This record gives sequence, structure tokens and C-alpha cells, in this order.
Amino acid sequence: MLHAQSLLDELNGLALGHPIYLYQEIGSTNDAARRLAQAGAPEGLLVVAEAQTAGRGRAGRSWLTPPGTALAFSLVLRPKVEAAQASRLTMLAGVVVCEAIEQAAPVSAELKWPNDVLVGGRKAGGILVEAEMIGDRLAFAIVGVGLNVNAAPPPEAVHFPATSLRDEAGRPVERLPLLRAILTRLEARYPGLASAGLPAAWRSRLKMLGRPVVVHGPEGELAGMAEDVDADGALVLRLDSGERRRILAGDARLRPA
Ligand code: BTN
Repeated sequence: MLHAQSLLDELNGLALGHPIYLYQEIGSTNDAARRLAQAGAPEGLLVVAEAQTAGRGRAGRSWLTPPGTALAFSLVLRPKVEAAQASRLTMLAGVVVCEAIEQAAPVSAELKWPNDVLVGGRKAGGILVEAEMIGDRLAFAIVGVGLNVNAAPPPEAVHFPATSLRDEAGRPVERLPLLRAILTRLEARYPGLASAGLPAAWRSRLKMLGRPVVVHGPEGELAGMAEDVDADGALVLRLDSGERRRILAGDARLRPA
């Protein structure tokens, strides 16, 4: 169980992570953080939950957070960037979560476009960034992170093969030091949110580039070569017809040879 005092002690001295709301059970930390942000909460506010009953993933999927084994949190950020740069927050969160996992456990982490965190080729976590705009500026963004730390969801509950950090590391992983590592790295990289270095760091973690993929998205199913990603987070797909498409949302899978 996550204890309030241990959480405060672990995050002591960090710029992000104030104020902190800890729930033993909540619907979704993203929803709670959004309500607080709409009421004027400052940048850095953090909502952490031991368990979520209505955790959400991308594309309206549910996200399981059973008690005692996972990390589920949402951070309020108010970056002074244009609305079009909201995808930078998904890049930022993906990169720092990978870095923090590698610091906390003897494993390598990578990303699957657009927002999945993979360890050992299987999904160990996900990122859900939800932004609110004022005109063409970002009013605030909620950066939600869910990690399967010491247990993986059952196969029938997931869309992509899942794992946990414990399964991949071969030993339990402590949740609070992992949370501290994520926030520490986020603080370090946050000033570079609009820099060219961030898409480059994100691109270097992405698993499928240069490989044949099938993407299921709003335009249906598209097959081609995952050539690149651009600075806005779009996947650049070279279709089998030779046409080049920018894809902003969807699920990519490697195409069997
Ligand atoms: C995905 O893989 O599609 C993203 C999953 C994001 C889950 C996290 S858990 C904390 C935060 N609260 C939510 O309801 N979702 C995110």
C-alpha cells in the first residue's frame, strides 16, 4: 500500500509533485487531475492512486490498476507552448519513463508509437496525455502514466501482449523510487520541451521504425513501412503503393513477413 508520508518523503526536494493527492482508490487519476486543473491547480500538481476503478487508456480503452502492484499517476503541466505542440508531452513522458525504468531495474525500455512503454518487447506501461486549449495555446495538460510494476494484467484484458517490470527484471521493483526517478527526469527534460532534441530522443526509443507495419487508425487499416516520425509526433508511413502518409493516431503492429 502507498503511504502518504512515504510518498512525501520520497518526493521531497522535487519541483514537480506539489501539491500531491494520494488516493487508495479512485476512478481515474487523469479525471481527478483534470478537475483540479480546471479549478486552477498549479503546474506540478500530482494525483497518485493505489488503485483505479475506471482507469483509461488511449482510444477509449480501459486501463487496469489493481492495488499493490502498479504505478498510476497524473501530473498537471502548464507549458507555454502552442496547442499543436501538445504531442511533445507524450514524447517527453515516454522518454523519461524509459530512462527511469532503466535506472530502477536492470532492463532496457523502448517505446511503441505513439504512447506504449515496452520492456522485453511487451507492454509494461502507457501514457495518456490530455490537453485543454485556450485558442491556439495550451491551457494545461494532464500527463497520465500507468506502469505494470510488480504484476501484469491477464492476457484476456489487453490488446497487446503485456508484462511487468518485475517479470522482466526477475525481481520486485520498488514503486516510489521509480516515481521519483520519473519526476526527476521529467524536471530535467521539461525545459527542452520545444527543442529539436526531444523528438530525436523519442525517435531513438521507438521500436518499429524502418520495419513493415500495419496501422489501425481513423482511416482504417494501412500497411506500409514505418519510415519515420516527425517533430509533431506523427508516424510517417510509406504505403505499399509508394504514397507517403502522416498518421496522427492509431495502433501500429509489426507486419508478419
Ligand atoms: C495507454 O496505454 O493507452 C495509456 C494508459 C494510461 C494509463 C494511465 S494510469 C494513470 C492515468 N489515469 C488514467 O485513467 N489513465 C492514465
